[in-house]
Amino acid sequence: MKGKVYIVGAGPGDVRLLTLRALTVLQQADVILHDDLVSEEILALAGPGQRLRNVGKRCGKAGTSQGEINSLLIRHATEGLNVVRLKGGDPLVFGRAGEEMDALRAGGIDFEVVPGVTAALAAGAAVKVSLTDRRWASQVIFVSGHSCAGHPRTDWRAVVSARTTIVIYMPGQNHGTLAAELREAGLSADTPAILVSRAATREERIYRTTVGDLPWAQRLSAPTVLLIGATLREAAESTPAPVHECVEQELSK
Ligand SMILES: C[S@@+](CC[C@H](N)C(=O)[O-])C[C@H]1O[C@@H](n2cnc3c(N)ncnc32)[C@H](O)[C@@H]1O
Repeated sequence: MKGKVYIVGAGPGDVRLLTLRALTVLQQADVILHDDLVSEEILALAGPGQRLRNVGKRCGKAGTSQGEINSLLIRHATEGLNVVRLKGGDPLVFGRAGEEMDALRAGGIDFEVVPGVTAALAAGAAVKVSLTDRRWASQVIFVSGHSCAGHPRTDWRAVVSARTTIVIYMPGQNHGTLAAELREAGLSADTPAILVSRAATREERIYRTTVGDLPWAQRLSAPTVLLIGATLREAAESTPAPVHECVEQELSK
């Protein structure tokens, strides 16, 4: 009898943000194939008899190729094993789950998706701002700031529009180019921007700036997301930290 594959979101890092369903399938799995971004605390939940393998990769370069990961999922499930494919955040947000689900469907393997807290929502919680505050925004866009080779570059004109909060995943460290592209696409220099590094971890950092001042923003440790939009103005003005100051927020014990 074939096993089943669980494509699971591990959330942004804090073990307390893992869903109960994720914890259950994690503890019952025979094999766990995980990404780089999954925190040590979460990996520590695996039992001694469970096979744990890091299949992390960055933009298809290092580690295990997407094709190999797909084959591993199918092979283990065909052997009758229950497999957890553990990804940071939510597995369906910039997580290549689409390719894995296609492979599983083609291989006739049963699978389930267990959602997780995506980085954008963890960052919104960190800065205590509603990404869709009805006074400032009627939509939120999750966009990748980084394109892998062979994929189209982000069309910022299609992203920038009124009453929109933009969350840029993988914003990179070239803030000058990014700011220039955002300005060219129509964002004004005084649009608030907040970088959130390692949201929902003990190393969480928050840096408030504007699109105009983004080129001079402090370089924060990856992973980071960049939040942009008028809805952030209130957060910047109502918090004790002055604009441009990097704030360290310890997780409550
Ligand atoms: C390949 S994407 C995976 C996204 C993930 N599936 C999610 O839903 O959050 C990796 C990017 O997610 C963002 N990210 C993931 N975890 C983060 C965290 N704890 N804090 C800030 N950004 C994070 C960063 O932009 C990072 O470069």
